[in-house]
Amino acid sequence: MKLRKSLFAGFFAIAASTLLAGNTLAADVYPNKPVTLVVPFAAGGPTDAVARLIAVPMGKELGQTVIVENTVGAGGTIAATRVARSAPDGYMIFIHHMGMATAPALYKKLNFDPMKDFEYIGQVVDVPMVLLGRKNFPPNNFKELEAYIKANKDKVTLANAGPGAVSQLCGLLFMSREGVELTTVPYKGTGPALTDLLGGQVDLLCDQTTQTVPYIKDGLVKAYGVTTPKRLPALPNIPTLDEQGLKGFEVKVWHGMYVSKGTPPAVVNKINKALNVALNDPEVKARLAESNIEIVPPAKRTPKGLQDHLDAEINKWGPVIRKAGAYAD
Ligand code: MLT
Repeated sequence: MKLRKSLFAGFFAIAASTLLAGNTLAADVYPNKPVTLVVPFAAGGPTDAVARLIAVPMGKELGQTVIVENTVGAGGTIAATRVARSAPDGYMIFIHHMGMATAPALYKKLNFDPMKDFEYIGQVVDVPMVLLGRKNFPPNNFKELEAYIKANKDKVTLANAGPGAVSQLCGLLFMSREGVELTTVPYKGTGPALTDLLGGQVDLLCDQTTQTVPYIKDGLVKAYGVTTPKRLPALPNIPTLDEQGLKGFEVKVWHGMYVSKGTPPAVVNKINKALNVALNDPEVKARLAESNIEIVPPAKRTPKGLQDHLDAEINKWGPVIRKAGAYAD
C-alpha cells in the first residue's frame, strides 16, 4: 500500500514538473513565427480598424509580425469557430465584440462554446455608436427623421452587418423604440455598409464611432444621435438619442481578445502583456481618443476580467434575445 502511494506521488510529481517545463518552454520559444489576429468582420470596418491599430505594437512587443486576417460571415461565428478549432499554441489570436455574448442565444446551432472553447486574454476597448443617415437623406435632425420614417417606413432602408452584429442590435433597438419595421440590408461588416451609405445606396446605419467621426465632421453623412448617456467630446454637437426622446437608449460595444482552449498560461500571459503594451502606446491612445473609444481599465484587460464580463453578458443577453424570439440560422 505504502509502495503504491509513493509510486502515485512520484508519478504526479513527474507529470507536474513535465507540465511546468512544457509551459515554460512554450513561453520561452513563443512566438518563433508570425502570429495571426483573426477579425470576424470585413476589412475597413471598426473591429478591423482596432485590430490593425494594436497589431503593430503587439507585434513589436512579441518580436514577430502580427498579421490581421478577416474571416467574415454569420455575425462573427465563422471566425469564432475557426479560432476555437485552432491549435492551442497562441499563433491564432481572436478579437471580437459583444457578439461573442449574444451568439449563444441568437444562433440555433453554434459550433463553439464561448465559455468552454477559449482561453481569455483580456478586454480591449469600449466603443460608442451613432445613428447615421446618407448625406442627401431628407431629414436634417432626429425629430425630422422620426416624422420621415412614420410617413415613409416602406421606403427607408437600414444597413447592418448581419445577425449578431452590433449594428443589427442597435438597429433593432431603434426600430422597436420607434415601433416601426424598416427594410434591413445586411453586409459582411459595417466597413462595406458605410461605403454604401457614403455612396447613397442605403439610407441609415447605426455604426461605431471608430471610423465615422471624420465623415460626420466633413458633412459626408448625417448624424442623428449618439447611443451613449452623455454627448461625446469628439462630437459635441451631436445630441444623444436619450436626450431626443429615446430615454435610456444606450449601446456601448465592448471587445475581447481570445485564443483557443488549452493554450499554455505562460503564452496567454505573453499575449496579454503585448495587448497591454499596445493599449499603453501613445499613438494608439491618441488615435482611439479621436473616435471617443475608451480603453478599458487595467483590471478588465486581464484573462479574468474578460471571462467574468463575458459570463455576465451571456446571462444578460440570453433571456432578452430568447424573450424577443430573435434567432439567426
Ligand atoms: C464591424 O467590424 O464591421 C462591426 O463591428 C460589425 C458590427 O457588429 O456591426
